[in-house]
Amino acid sequence: MSDIDLAVIGGTGVYALARLEEVETHVVETRYGAPSGPVRVGRLGASRVAFLARHGEGHSVPPHLVNYRANLAALQHLGATRVLALNTVGGITERFGPRVLACPDQLIDYTWGRVSTLCEGEPWAVSGGEVLHVDFGEPYSRGLRQAVLAAARRAGVDLVEGGCYGATQGPRLETRAEIARLRRDGCDLVGMTGMPEAGLARELGLEYTCLAVVANWAAGAGPDPDEVITLQDVLDNVAAASAGLADLIGAVVEN
Ligand code: HPA
Repeated sequence: MSDIDLAVIGGTGVYALARLEEVETHVVETRYGAPSGPVRVGRLGASRVAFLARHGEGHSVPPHLVNYRANLAALQHLGATRVLALNTVGGITERFGPRVLACPDQLIDYTWGRVSTLCEGEPWAVSGGEVLHVDFGEPYSRGLRQAVLAAARRAGVDLVEGGCYGATQGPRLETRAEIARLRRDGCDLVGMTGMPEAGLARELGLEYTCLAVVANWAAGAGPDPDEVITLQDVLDNVAAASAGLADLIGAVVEN
């Protein structure tokens, strides 16, 4: 099996990879169970790219029930070493309004009760039972992040550089008080899927970075503090950002 240049995990509103050609479908079972759906592997320009929809192609898996370990292990099994994670998010601070693409450099984990490490269950797969205390000071791969930032410049795609992603439990959206707290904590973005995925990727030894698609102002964060967030708004804004997203992913693999 030939190697994969880049694996892309799609978030809410991104259930397929635009411009992927000669697509093969892989149904993979991992030691952690089944991933959210089939992995589609195809050609993007001259590169081999894998795509997996985090919530399933019909969006049937909520954020707290995603088998993050199986998703990453399936991509790794197919030969991926670099993972670009698309995360649909709410924006908290002013640089991160709806339809913005962003490449955060930090995160805070507010999730709970999720399987968040490989060191759980039988067998502790990668380590033969050894407890893993991976360094996570810089949660995203420096090399892959820089490659994404450089690709955005080359492709002329606007990408906000840096920012802190707050990972919340969901599936409900946050209260205004919760968002105010995240802002005080230093979060710029809020989403439900950034963790444990990033931590597990580090434990698996994958290069992993987040490409956030801002779908809405987080609760109380926008110009209209009483605004109600609807799924339709989220999907519309992700759709509006998707051309830039496709250009950017194309430029990442071009290099
Ligand atoms: N909060 C959490 N997750 C999200 C949001 C939000 O406002 N928008 C899209 N995903």
